[in-house]
Formats: sequence, structure tokens, C-alpha cells
Amino acid sequence: MSSAVKLGDCLEVARGIDSESVDLVYVDPPFFTQKTHTLTTRDRKTRFHFSDEWKSQQEYSDFLRSRLKLFWRVLKKTGSIFFHCDTNASHVIRGLLDEVFGEDMFRSEIIWYYRRWSNSQRCPLPCHQTIFFYSKTKNYKYNQLFGDYSPSTNIDQILQRRQRDNHGKAVYARDEGGDIIFDGNKKGVPIGDVWDIPLLNPKAKERTGYPTQKPILLLERIILLTTEPKDMVLDPCCGSGTTLVAAELHGRHSLGIDTSPSAVELAEQRLKNPLKTFSELLRKGREAYIQCDAEVIDYLHGLKLLPVQRNKGMDAIINGGAGSGPTLVRVQRTGESLQNAAESLYKAGLKKKPAAMILVATDWKEERTLFNVIPKGVTVVYATAAEIMRVLTGLQSIKQNVS
Ligand SMILES: C[S@@+](CC[C@H](N)C(=O)[O-])C[C@H]1O[C@@H](n2cnc3c(N)ncnc32)[C@H](O)[C@@H]1O
Repeated sequence: MSSAVKLGDCLEVARGIDSESVDLVYVDPPFFTQKTHTLTTRDRKTRFHFSDEWKSQQEYSDFLRSRLKLFWRVLKKTGSIFFHCDTNASHVIRGLLDEVFGEDMFRSEIIWYYRRWSNSQRCPLPCHQTIFFYSKTKNYKYNQLFGDYSPSTNIDQILQRRQRDNHGKAVYARDEGGDIIFDGNKKGVPIGDVWDIPLLNPKAKERTGYPTQKPILLLERIILLTTEPKDMVLDPCCGSGTTLVAAELHGRHSLGIDTSPSAVELAEQRLKNPLKTFSELLRKGREAYIQCDAEVIDYLHGLKLLPVQRNKGMDAIINGGAGSGPTLVRVQRTGESLQNAAESLYKAGLKKKPAAMILVATDWKEERTLFNVIPKGVTVVYATAAEIMRVLTGLQSIKQNVS
């Protein structure tokens, strides 16, 4: 596919684009945060930054209006625009889009929802951004995408074919024998306007170190919803080039524009080797993640804890404890020696300055002499079942050994 990145103000560059030549415009401009965004790459060699400081809301709004008019002009009649913003100026942007595209071209307000940790604000934690979807005309391209049925859906019923009766009422279709007909071709539920897509984690392969970089997964969804292979995608504020990478991965042509030379260089580099992070969390679903180690969580039932994923050294954190740091908890796995379990908890705790590290021993037969090799700072307690087995079999509990 052809993909190009141009250095310059999108106002100037977009003037040179033919009218009605673009299928999708994705705009992710500065959000009116009144900050300069700065971030350094993992190897600390490059420092990226872009300014998001404005004299007034009016200046910001004028900046967007003139560019939006150009984006409208370059879009094909079947094309759409996705405009990414947050609470800093979503109210302004909705008005501008109504003005330039027309209120009746509003298609949806997509909420990109993600989880994050922070407790610094005296208000509900911000964990979404907004993407406005407008089409140029009512005859726009839209490919329905489907998601999973909700866990409460009666799948049994969903998989039964339906038809309309003489009164137009939906009823289950039946074969000649009067039996309900199975219909295994259901595609799922059309995707909604709240998109649960994780933020890029600090170790994600696709993470470039560019400030406010968006996940490819998010751009893929937008591209798949509104374009076909070989269509043209324009990202006038392309930053690290996420949109261009997503377009390339799906066989769409693309053009990115950015005023920052380092962004343009980065986007060009990314296009040479388009990489996407595979999200285990999305593949398995959040529910599956929560239940993945249900057995482990069962051992900790009754505690007010935060389950920890993707960390072999610990299973949960309990806030509060003897010291100021967190209390780390780990459960010994079946077949794992107490020593190995303790060492991996100890390693996980090294940089966290924990108040305590608690290891739940599940193997009741582990010799108490092993206690000598448990790293300092790790406290071993027996799980209830293991404790009971030790009592029943006359083995001494480790706790007795300690005192
Ligand atoms: C929010 S970032 C885009 C991040 C990008 N979506 C990504 O995933 O990396 C906004 C970008 O807009 C660029 N920018 C600001 N003003 C611009 C303008 N007038 N024309 C083109 N790009 C501009 C900034 O340099 C910055 O890279």
C-alpha cells in the first residue's frame, strides 16, 4: 500500500490534496490541555514534544475550524471523519463539527474507555476520551462490526432461528416436525459506542515514546468500520503514525501530516516495520482475566485486595499493612516448591518497598525445615485447607516453627 508522511501544517498540506479523494479522516489534534506534551523513548535517546498551549479557546476553535473545512473538502461523498478529543474541548469540537459537517451528519459519539490507576483527583477518575464520528453525506460507507454477546445473554435462545408470524411478531421458526431450528450463523452483537480498549502498557512493543500515542487497536477499529481495502486514509496530525501503521496492516493507502520533524521521522520508521501489540487482555476478555486464576483468588477470598495480572511474582496487593508500602500476596501453585514461590514473591517485591510480603502455602506436605530458605521479609501462612491437613496429619505448622 502507498503510505506517505509529510512535514508541515496540515492547513498548508491539505490545501494540496484533491477534493473528494479521501475515504476517512482521523483527527487527533492537540486537545486544548494548555500544556506542552513531552516524553522520552525507553532507551532515553530521544525526547519528543509538541505544544498544546493556546491564547484562548477562541484561538483553538479558529485553528480547528479552518482545518475542518479543508478536511470536509477532501473527503469523498461516501467518506467520514473521526475526531478524537477529551473533556478539555469536546464541547467546542462537537459545535464545530455540527457547523462544518452539519448536525444531521452526526453519526455517533464514541467513548474510548480504558482503565488506569491514580488517586490524585477529588472527582471520579477520568478514564475515557471521546471520538466524534460524522459522515460527509448520508450515503457513507459503514461496515458493521460485531462483538460478543453479553454474559447474561441466553445464547441458547439467540442461536434459534426467528421469523415473523402473520401479525409481524418475531417468533421462533420451526421445521416440519415442529422443532425449533438451530441457526449457528449469528455474528454477535453490533459493536456499541463504548469501546473498551486498553491503553498501551509501558512494555508494549508498539509503544514508541511519542506523547499521547494511541493504540493501533483503536485505529484498526475505525478503519475497518468505515473503509475498504485500497481506500485512502488521512491523518492530518499523525504524531507517531499510528493511523498509518493500522492502515498499512489492513491494506489501505494513507497520508500522515505533522508539524514536528521528529514525529514525521518516527512515523516513517514505524512504517518500515509496522508492529502491532497483541493484547492478551482483549483476546481473552476482561472477565476471563479476572477469572483466569479463580483458584488463586479463592484462596484470598474475604480480603479486600487488588488482583495483579501479568506478574508471576505476586497475585494481589492489599493496601495498608504494617508499613507505608503495599502488602504483596502470592499463592503457592500446585507442583511449585515453597522456596520457588517465596523467591519469586521476594523478587517481585524488591523494587516495591512493600510493607509485607505474604506467601500462602497450599502444599501441606512441605517440610518445615524449608522455612530456613525462605527469603527475609516473606511471611508464610498456610491456606486453610493446608492448615487443616497439617493438623489432621499431626504435622507442625510453620507458624509454630517460627515462635
Ligand atoms: C495528539 S498528537 C497525535 C498522536 C498520534 N495520534 C499518535 O498516535 O501518535 C497531536 C499531533 O498533532 C501535531 N500537530 C499540531 N499542530 C499541527 C498542525 N497544525 N498540523 C499538523 N500537525 C500538527 C503535533 O505535532 C502532534 O504530533
